[in-house]
Amino acid sequence: MKIGVVGGGYVGLTTGVCFSSLGHDVFVVEKVEEKVKKLKEGIPPFYEPGLEELLKKMLMEGKIRFSTNIKEMTEFSEIIFICVGTPPKEDGYPDLSQIEEAAREIALHLRDYRVIVEKSTVPVRTSYWIERTIRLNLHRPVEFDVASNPEFLREGSAIKDFLNPDRIVIGVSSERAKNILLELYKDFQCPKIITDISSAELIKHASNSFLAMKISFANLLSEICEKTGANVEVVTHAIGLDRRIGTDFLKAGIGYGGSCFPKDIKAFIKIGEELGIDMSLLKDVHNINERRIDIFISKLKGALWNIKGKTITILGISFKPDTDDIREAPSLKLSRRLREEGAYLKLYDPKAVENAKREFPENPPEVEYFSDPYLALQNADAACVVTEWEEVKKLDLKEVKRIMRTPIIVDGRNVYNPQLLREAGIEYYPTGIKF
Ligand code: UDX
Repeated sequence: MKIGVVGGGYVGLTTGVCFSSLGHDVFVVEKVEEKVKKLKEGIPPFYEPGLEELLKKMLMEGKIRFSTNIKEMTEFSEIIFICVGTPPKEDGYPDLSQIEEAAREIALHLRDYRVIVEKSTVPVRTSYWIERTIRLNLHRPVEFDVASNPEFLREGSAIKDFLNPDRIVIGVSSERAKNILLELYKDFQCPKIITDISSAELIKHASNSFLAMKISFANLLSEICEKTGANVEVVTHAIGLDRRIGTDFLKAGIGYGGSCFPKDIKAFIKIGEELGIDMSLLKDVHNINERRIDIFISKLKGALWNIKGKTITILGISFKPDTDDIREAPSLKLSRRLREEGAYLKLYDPKAVENAKREFPENPPEVEYFSDPYLALQNADAACVVTEWEEVKKLDLKEVKRIMRTPIIVDGRNVYNPQLLREAGIEYYPTGIKF
């Protein structure tokens, strides 16, 4: 099929590359010229495992093209996916102006029937506004349908998630759009939820909020465990074995970050409140996540006494492993707080150093960056595990003990066996485990 994608960012590029790898012809339109230039050379604007290789292959096979020309894309495509950004506004509600702009521009060039699909995460009822915007901007009467097909991709495993989804959600208001989208996904074996558009839109926010709620629940448990001597790893594992609960997304730690959970939870709270609904459940999910940094810092202070003048190594900057994305990363919140208290920072990450450099204007010795963890640990007064990169998990603990000034590790991801650290002579402060 001929597929158009508006937006060459995370969702748009992954969607485009994956559909092209399934044999479809894809046309991605992106308004930033510099990005288009890079994409034509096969260079994605972010790191995602496997994406660059697949992009290059699809370009070679002529299955995907990039342009700034939305007219050509609209003429080319049978189905158009809107994958533009929906960043949060001051009040937490998503800024939908890029969605409106995309709808208006598609309308201006619409000459034949098209299905216009929202893939960006949007508030319930956004399709009404897309439909209205297109209708009001058409030059002449043309039939079209708006549909919703939310994505559930995780950074770091986006291609795998796209090609092997747990389910596909299709929100439609006509048989015609339904049949086209079912044809598009005909080779996917997973359950397909065909529903009305509002339900489809709601599923994305509901899904992310529920996952964030599980994480905050685990973090709440970790607070109780730290005060009582119970072990959060054992407690979450045991409750997760109840199949009604499930073990996934119950890992206690320094809190969730990224471009989705923090933003989507705030948006969902706002959407509910505007509908007059008490959203305190999700407000608590957010508040529990916010206080993870306070709890982490008080643990660090318990180990270091004073923060001022100490050299602290941050192991992992990206919001999770296998990505260079630092949006809403716990490492940044932690680093800012430690800087305010007068610490010297050594920031380590295998992929995200370049992105992080834009966050802190200070120079060495105040803030230093490393892509080698051992250099980052040299002469440190404490190390903070913030992202569970394989490189961090596999550190040679004897060497760590040897090179640190004072061997103290505060672990926000519970990556080490406490016994092994004790044997290596390192003072260890895990999460949700009294030690
Ligand atoms: C998430 C959703 O999983 C995905 O379906 C949606 O499309 C986009 O948002 P992503 O933001 O890529 O994906 O990351 P995810 O793997 O969900 O992790 C989000 C954050 O939660 C990370 O900071 C991670 O470290 C944290 N997390 C995750 C925990 O703290 N504990 C867990 O048990 C799981």
